[in-house]
Amino acid sequence: MFRLTVLLYFLVYVYLGTLTTFGVAGNKEKLVTVKDKFKLPSDDLMPFVGFGTYKVKGDDLIFKLLDYALAAGYRLIDTAQYYENEESIGQALKVLLPKYNLTRKDIFITTKLLSTKLGEADVYQSIEKSVKNLGYDYVDLFLIHFPGLPSRDNTTNPKNDSVLRDETWQVMVRAVKDGLVRNIGVSNYLVHHLKELLENDHGIKPGVNQLEWHPGYHPAGLLELCKQEGILLQAYGSLGGTGRANVLLKRPEVVKIAEKLKKTPAQILLRWALQQKIGIIPKASSEDRIKQNMDLDFIIPEEDMRALLSFEQKHNSWNSGNIQ
Ligand SMILES: *[C@@H]1O[C@H](CO)[C@@H](O)[C@H](O)[C@H]1NC(C)=O
Ligand SMILES: *[C@@H]1O[C@H](CO)[C@@H](O)[C@H](O)[C@H]1NC(C)=O
Ligand SMILES: *[C@@H]1O[C@H](CO)[C@@H](O)[C@H](O)[C@H]1NC(C)=O
Repeated sequence: MFRLTVLLYFLVYVYLGTLTTFGVAGNKEKLVTVKDKFKLPSDDLMPFVGFGTYKVKGDDLIFKLLDYALAAGYRLIDTAQYYENEESIGQALKVLLPKYNLTRKDIFITTKLLSTKLGEADVYQSIEKSVKNLGYDYVDLFLIHFPGLPSRDNTTNPKNDSVLRDETWQVMVRAVKDGLVRNIGVSNYLVHHLKELLENDHGIKPGVNQLEWHPGYHPAGLLELCKQEGILLQAYGSLGGTGRANVLLKRPEVVKIAEKLKKTPAQILLRWALQQKIGIIPKASSEDRIKQNMDLDFIIPEEDMRALLSFEQKHNSWNSGNIQ
């Protein structure tokens, strides 16, 4: 009996030893857990898991959800000028950080430039306003929200998007040097946008590229480029949508894996990203789901990871594919 037990333990040990991070076969890297952090080019550490606040508005609602999120262990809060909730977040943190015995440096705040501001004369003032709204004297990460003017009207701005991106980046570099912003990055950038920025980053490399990313949309080459350049790919819309129905929650392939591993479909989709060292910023409105989305320290076997890579590809949110 004793021998059998030892043998069993040995076999489990060998089995665990053969599991690898998906995408780096043969390379036994440590699997990412919800407490892990990504090292940005500035050497700042950024949590892989954050709390998303897209379409969450109102002081009371923000307070309630951030209360749940901080209790559940989230330490990154993701917002944007577009979400119109920066001030509510700032006010909530003033009360909630002391409640959880945290200080400003224990949390990581991301916000993003309103897309219509790309290349505008007041980008710097707009960063200052975000910092002030969020209630402290800096933000951890500031992103260009979209690589072009959303509805291209070059009668109001005759410069092309490529020039507007470059001008905006230069202002963001200045904001880092002035201490307003600790790190800068981009959102909705595809390979050609990112390569252009890497060729001329004015001295500060982007730390993050945040975009729609899930089994139903993972454009080729982007994750590889980000990894090679030390940029964190951070996913939004992990459940298959943004605001719209989260279309992947009911996919039979996802449901099947969830049943097998005794997890929810949402946990499978979030773990799928995290296991590939992709950042995630799930949003939820109930305490239970906020907690569940932080409960991701399990392993999806490689064959299931692969099955989740084989879905037909379809973009659900903002499309930057036609932005030059
Ligand atoms: C709060 O943090 C301080 C300093 O890290 C620690 O000594 C104290 O025990 C903490 N209190 C609670 C309630 O966690
Ligand atoms: C202005 O927009 C038109 C129509 O989209 C396009 O053909 C033209 O190249 C644009 N000009 C510049 C300077 O971007
Ligand atoms: C954008 O405009 C600049 C300056 O006029 C020009 O050098 C560049 O080729 C243009 N880029 C695109 C993609 O049209």
